[in-house]
Amino acid sequence: MKNTAPVTISHLENMKRQGENIAMLTCYDATFASAMDQAGVDIILIGDSMGMVVQGRSSTVGVSVEEIAYHTACVACGVDRTFVLADMPFGSYHDEATAMENAVDLLAAGGVMVKLEGAGPMIPIVDYLTSRGVPVCAHLGLTPQSVNQLGGFKVQAREEEDARQLLEDAQAMQQAGAQMLVLECVPAELGRKVSEQLEMPVIGIGAGAACDGQVLVMHDMLGLGRRVPKFVANFMQGSDSIGAAFEKYVSDVRSGSFPAKEHEY
Ligand code: KIV
Repeated sequence: MKNTAPVTISHLENMKRQGENIAMLTCYDATFASAMDQAGVDIILIGDSMGMVVQGRSSTVGVSVEEIAYHTACVACGVDRTFVLADMPFGSYHDEATAMENAVDLLAAGGVMVKLEGAGPMIPIVDYLTSRGVPVCAHLGLTPQSVNQLGGFKVQAREEEDARQLLEDAQAMQQAGAQMLVLECVPAELGRKVSEQLEMPVIGIGAGAACDGQVLVMHDMLGLGRRVPKFVANFMQGSDSIGAAFEKYVSDVRSGSFPAKEHEY
């Protein structure tokens, strides 16, 4: 019989301790959320990637808190058990008061945790939020909201010094109270190190198979992406329905057969 108890942060931490890989996908509406919930997806991220895959923008910059809140509310209506993680868009967490106000809106819309990108000046902001009861997921490595500073969607922390800094940032985020980390587009070896050294679950996207879990953008894994990075697999191939593609994703993440070597940096 399927477990129908809602997924909580304690459940996800327990999965990490037991070595059970966590399956996360992005989603933006109730119908797809319900199909993911039934397929056993552990976490749904209402990502600001919706700026690209739903709104057709060239980057995630420009998505508003109101838009994320609206889609978070839609997703929350579609799930019975899946953990709902809401993205804080660019410009919505640059100071403590603004971050708090916007995080509260996203939690009120149905999010269980909020995600924000970067380290450095974000560390005291995470500390501020978490010490006031806001559950936070950090996001390091390729941080798409900074794409214009990074000069494109590129693999990050290939050099030893950058890898060391990323590891330090991840530890600082955990110290500041973050309870989960999304790690995007880094060498697989660094993904393994970060996952081993942190207590909080590390969910990778293009960060190798040794992370505690995996996340993909839903449109990409359904074969609908316009620009498909190396770390994406098309789960519609060999599946006769979208629900079956979600189930295959969950089962491949759990078994460790996704990501394969060809999806790693
Ligand atoms: O916005 C998003 O979908 C994300 C994922 C790429 C992790 O942050």
